[in-house]
Amino acid sequence: MKNKHNRMDSTGRRLVLLPLPFQGHLSPMLQLGNILHSKGFSITILHTRFNSPDPTNHPHFIFEPIPGTDDNIINSLWGVENLLRLLNYINNELVGPIRTCLERLMSDDDHGVACLITDAHWFGTQAVADALKLPRIVHRTSSIASFRSFSSSRLSDPDIKSEPSILSPESIKVKDLPEFVNNDPEGKQKMIELMVQGIKQARALIWNTFKELEEHELEALSQDFPSPHFLIGPFHKYFSGSSSSLLEQDQTSLSWLDKHPPNSVLYVSFGSIVKVNKSQFLEIAWGLANSMQPFLWVIRPGFIEGSEWLEPLPDGFWERIVKGRGHIVKWAPQQGVLAHRATGGFWTHSRWNSTLESICEGVPMICSPFFGDQLSNARYVSDVWKIGVRLENQFEREEIESAIKKVMVDREGLEFRNEIINMKGKIDRCIQEGGSSYSSLEDLVNYILSF
Ligand code: UDX
Repeated sequence: MKNKHNRMDSTGRRLVLLPLPFQGHLSPMLQLGNILHSKGFSITILHTRFNSPDPTNHPHFIFEPIPGTDDNIINSLWGVENLLRLLNYINNELVGPIRTCLERLMSDDDHGVACLITDAHWFGTQAVADALKLPRIVHRTSSIASFRSFSSSRLSDPDIKSEPSILSPESIKVKDLPEFVNNDPEGKQKMIELMVQGIKQARALIWNTFKELEEHELEALSQDFPSPHFLIGPFHKYFSGSSSSLLEQDQTSLSWLDKHPPNSVLYVSFGSIVKVNKSQFLEIAWGLANSMQPFLWVIRPGFIEGSEWLEPLPDGFWERIVKGRGHIVKWAPQQGVLAHRATGGFWTHSRWNSTLESICEGVPMICSPFFGDQLSNARYVSDVWKIGVRLENQFEREEIESAIKKVMVDREGLEFRNEIINMKGKIDRCIQEGGSSYSSLEDLVNYILSF
């Protein structure tokens, strides 16, 4: 009897995909798996047990936990403040077990493994791929523009820090350069260098973006990164309804939206990992209340430092101040919320999946970036694509109130909406036959089949 690894799809080629165990990285990698599966590849997902994907949502994939790993350590490093330590840990300690697993998969399979596709943060796997003579392709889960700001930034360089503005790419200011929240410039610099080196040594790069949005950035990036680039996004638009959410999505979000007129509700969510302190939380709450606009607000348990959930909300806030204009959930079906006709704006932390999902549904944004690629995404949304505003003072109730009015009520909001709806039209075309992402996907498939 053939074992599970012998199950082959029509190309007879297996791909091993290795996501990073964060929601914002896991989702696009699983979506990429679905896209490549639809092109006839067999898909094996290599994953940590920590934040492991739910196999029942993807019955056509084979799931392989990375053997012999201590996921308690990963668990203990979970959180923005430990990002660097987590990345160092997985790239030092887990590459051995990954190699063991890949060797087994390669020898198990009559047809072999065509290639390894890893998140860019798994830079340690390039050496494993080289040793096993296995082609490695990198999937970078950000925009090309923000990756350029990463790869061109020298964060530990004091001269760079003192420059007033404008580095490459042209619209990025020094304050938009990627910063992690911990205080280890040398560690950050080393990590970025390793990631950049791992990308340069890989055979190719896959992007969850589309040519019409980032053609100029791609041209500039290709000078330093000459390997093939495949822009095949937006991934989540290829199939509807396949979920990779690690948290349960509260469907009352949609029934609550059903009661509202078109474009009237502001959706507020800061993703899966960032946190705010109590005073920032209160500024957000008062900014929302004072704007007088209806809002759907995602507050994850643990989002407010030192609180379980909503305890810091002032007494009577909900009944006396908001009076039915708001709805709070712990986690929402975000793509459905953004696609809902009642959603007129998205106040976001500007991480790439959220930004792209908003563009795909033609919803203008208010950007509150915290760290990493969020900063440059926000700058592009406000200054380059002109499809939203960026809060420059992070969380101040007056600035929040005025930004909400600008996006939801004022003439400027209408201009953002027109611009983003124009982009949405381009997206709708790019994954259709003959479109740019469609063609790039064909090229990617042929490229993998040439190995
Ligand atoms: C985070 C960090 O912000 C990022 O810097 C790090 O590299 C990875 O983890 P995340 O907060 O998950 O990213 O943001 P994003 O990339 O926007 O992805 C969030 C995903 O969760 C989106 O696909 C969104 O649709 C989904 N989501 C979000 C929900 O399904 N429900 C919600 O309520 C909120």
